[in-house]
Amino acid sequence: MMQDMSEFPREFARSLPKAELHVHLEGTVDAATLLALAERHGVEPPAPDEAGVRDWFTFDGFPMFLERYFTVVGLLRDPDDFALAAERYLQTAHDQGVVHVEFHVSATGHILENGKTWAPIHDGIVDGCRRAAERTGQTWGLIPDISPHLPAADCGRAMEQVFEHDLSHVVAIGMGGPADSWWTDDFTPIYERARSLGLPGVAHAGEHGGADEVRYAIERFGAVRIQHGIGAMQDPAVVDLLVERGIACDVCPGSNLALHAVESAAAHPLPRMLDAGVTVTLGTDDPPMFHTALLDEYERAWQWCGLDEDGLRRLADASLAAAFDTGR
Ligand code: ADE
Ligand code: ZN
Repeated sequence: MMQDMSEFPREFARSLPKAELHVHLEGTVDAATLLALAERHGVEPPAPDEAGVRDWFTFDGFPMFLERYFTVVGLLRDPDDFALAAERYLQTAHDQGVVHVEFHVSATGHILENGKTWAPIHDGIVDGCRRAAERTGQTWGLIPDISPHLPAADCGRAMEQVFEHDLSHVVAIGMGGPADSWWTDDFTPIYERARSLGLPGVAHAGEHGGADEVRYAIERFGAVRIQHGIGAMQDPAVVDLLVERGIACDVCPGSNLALHAVESAAAHPLPRMLDAGVTVTLGTDDPPMFHTALLDEYERAWQWCGLDEDGLRRLADASLAAAFDTGR
C-alpha cells in the first residue's frame, strides 16, 4: 500500500474516470474570465491584469476569501456569464479526466445580495454545461446553495425560486459560507422542503469549525455528503457517524491550505480520514482562487497519504460512487 516515494503518476491519475463533487461554479472564474466579465459589465476589476488578479487570489483567512469570492459572485450577472463559466470549467475538468461534475452555485447570494432571479441563472448554466458536454460526454448536476450569513427566512424565500423552476438538473441543495449563523438561525426547514421534493441535502461543515458542525449538518439538515468535514476528526463519535452512514466528505486539501483551515500539509487529517474508513472524494473548491486543479489534489493525497496507484484508483472510484444520479 505504501508508495516507493516515486513521482506522482499524473497521466495515470488523469486516465482514471472520476467525479468532482465539490467545486463552486463562481469559484471557477479564472483571472482571464474575471477581467472579461468586468469589462463586459463596465466594472473596475480588482486588478488591472491577469497577474494582478492571480495575486488578488491570495487570502489571509476565510473572511478575506469570502469577501473576494462574493466580489466574483457579483460579476456573474447575465445568463451568458453563467454559461461561459460553466462551459469553461467542464472543459477544464475534462482535461483532468473528470467525467462528472456537480456545481455548487451560490443561489441565495445571487438572489438576495445581487437582486437576481434564479431562472435565467439556471438556464445559463444549463446552456453552458450542455455545450461542453456535447463535446466531452460529461454528466453534470447543480447544487444550488444557501449562504448562511443571510437570514434563514430570506434564504427560504430565495430557495423557493429554485424549487419552483426546472429541477431536472438539480441534484441536491447545499450550504456554503460561515457556519457561525447555524447556532442563531434555523435553516432546517429549507432542507425539509427540499427533501419533500426529492432533493437531498449537503452542507459545508467542519471546514474551519469542528466536529459539532458535522454532527449538526447530518442530524439537523439530514446532509448525505459533507463538504470538507476535516473537523470531524476531532470527535471519534462523529467519525463513527460518517463511517456507519457511509457519508462522504468532499475534501479539498489545496483549499484547506490556502484558507489556513490547517496549519500545514503535515497537520491535514486526510491520511487519518482514510485510515478511519471515512469515504473521501477530492475536490478543488474554487480552483483558480486557490491556484489548484483536480490532479493537484490527487497529487497532494498521493504525497500526504503515501498512496500507490490502487489508492488513487480507490479515490477516483469513491468519487463516482458518491455522485448523485443525474438520471442520464
Ligand atoms: N464557498 C466557496 N468556497 C467556500 C468554502 N471554501 N467554504 C465555504 N463556502 C464556500
Ligand atoms: Zn466549498
